[in-house]
Amino acid sequence: MEFERHRRLRKSPFMRDIVRETHLHKDDLIYPIFVVEKDDVKKEVPSMKGVYQISLNMLKEELDEVVSLGIKSVIFFGVPNEKDPEGSGAYHDHGIVQEACRLSKELYPELLVILDTCLCEYTDHGHCGLIDEKTEDVDNDATLPLLVKTAVSQARAGADIIAPSNMMDGFVTEIRKGLDDNGFSHIPIMSYGIKYASKFYGPFRDAAESTPSFGDRRTYQMDPANRLEALRELASDENEGADMMIVKPALSYLDIIRDVRNRSDLPVVAYNVSGEYAMTRTAIDMGLLDEEVIIEQMLSMKRAGADLIITYFAKDICIKINQGEV
Ligand code: PBG
Repeated sequence: MEFERHRRLRKSPFMRDIVRETHLHKDDLIYPIFVVEKDDVKKEVPSMKGVYQISLNMLKEELDEVVSLGIKSVIFFGVPNEKDPEGSGAYHDHGIVQEACRLSKELYPELLVILDTCLCEYTDHGHCGLIDEKTEDVDNDATLPLLVKTAVSQARAGADIIAPSNMMDGFVTEIRKGLDDNGFSHIPIMSYGIKYASKFYGPFRDAAESTPSFGDRRTYQMDPANRLEALRELASDENEGADMMIVKPALSYLDIIRDVRNRSDLPVVAYNVSGEYAMTRTAIDMGLLDEEVIIEQMLSMKRAGADLIITYFAKDICIKINQGEV
C-alpha cells in the first residue's frame, strides 16, 4: 500500500483514549465569582446567562455548589456600594473581595482563592488607576502604590494567589516588594501581564459595573494586532518575579498562548473571558451549537499550551466530568 493508515488509531473509544494527547481535568479550572456589597442579591448578569452577582450573605450557597462539583479554585471580583476617584474600596481591609475571601477561607479552607488586583471595579470613572487630570490618562507611577496596598490587603484577608490585572508598567516589581515587605513572600503572583484591549470584556464590565465613563483602556492594555509586544510583556514580568502568566482573552489569542508556552517555563493561564462565554452560551441556548463545543474550546486552549483556564464554564465542565462525558 502506498498510503498510511491513520484510522487504525481511531477505530474504538479505547484506542482513541490511549492515544489522546490533551486532557481536561477539574484541577485545570478556575471559576470567577462576582460578589456584591449589597445584601440579599443573587442577580443573573443579563449578558452572561448562568453567571450571577451574589451578596456575601448568599455566598455560602454558591461556594457549597462550587465545592460539591469539584472546583478547586475561584477568583473573586467585587462590586462595591460606593466608588470614588481613587478606588479606595479596592484596598479597604474590609472591602468586598477581602470579606468574600475571609468567608470562603472560613467555610472551605482548602478552596484556593485568587484575588484580582485592580482598581477599575472601585473607581467612579471605571479606569484601572488614578487619572492624571492634565492628560486625562491613567497615571502609571501614581497608581502603583495603590495596587500594592490592594495586594497587601488581599493577602492579609487570606488570598492564596494575587493576580494583578491593571497593566501598569512595573506592577509586578512593586507588588512583589510590597508583599515581601509585609510578610507575604510565600504568596505567588499570577500576572495578567498579557492583556489585550479587547471588546470581549464587554459582559464582564456589565457584571462588575466597571465600564469606563470616558475614553478606553488602549493606553494600558495591548493592541490586538501585536504579537511581539506580548513577548516583551512576558520578558519583563518574568524579570520582575511573576510566578504565573495569564494570557487574556484566550480563544482569539491561541497563538499568543503557544508563543508564551514556547518561551517561558512559567505556568501559563488562559483567561476564557466573558465575551467568549457569552458568545458560546448564547449559541448553545439558541440551539445553534451543541454543548460539546465547550469542551472543544477548552481543549484548544490546553493544546495551545495553557496549564490552567479561568472560565465561567467551570461548573458546566465539572458536571460533564462527573457524568463521565469528558
Ligand atoms: C479588571 C479585569 C477585567 C477582566 C478581568 N479583570 C476587565 C477589564 O479589563 O475591563 C475581564 C474579564 C472578562 O471579560 O471575563 N481589570
